[in-house]
Amino acid sequence: MTETILVVNGPNLNKLGTRQPEIYGTDTLTSIEEKCRKTAQKYGFDIAFKQSNHEGDLVDFIQKAADENAGLIINPAAYSHTSVAILDALLNCPLPKIEVHLSNIHTREEFRHTSYVSKAADAVLCGFGAFGYEMAVIALCERFLKK
Ligand code: DQA
Repeated sequence: MTETILVVNGPNLNKLGTRQPEIYGTDTLTSIEEKCRKTAQKYGFDIAFKQSNHEGDLVDFIQKAADENAGLIINPAAYSHTSVAILDALLNCPLPKIEVHLSNIHTREEFRHTSYVSKAADAVLCGFGAFGYEMAVIALCERFLKK
């Protein structure tokens, strides 16, 4: 059976495509999923893609992640800057984990400069737009999941 990489997306990312395109670009979450799957397949992996606007759902996804997946990519969106619950779930998740942000959170409002989640991530990518997700897939496959 093909192993999967789980990509978890937080609040408002379901609105990508029309949400502040000058910051987040014009890719939709569906087009990002397709790009991630194409990239992962080159390495012999498939993609499982999830999004929720609810913090507890994201915790549930992370808690179950290791049962069914080889690696985890997460864009916790606004919860990056507030959620100890998501940090704790990630700290207890044994998979290799990459945090992604479309925008460069360090050049934006001060409250976006800190991500709680980064404390549990093996690596962080931000500011590459949708391409950051593909980069995260490549990085997971090359650096952590090489067969
Ligand atoms: C984001 C950055 C967050 O600050 C913001 O709340 C988001 C998206 C990004 O991908 O750039 O919703 O995580």
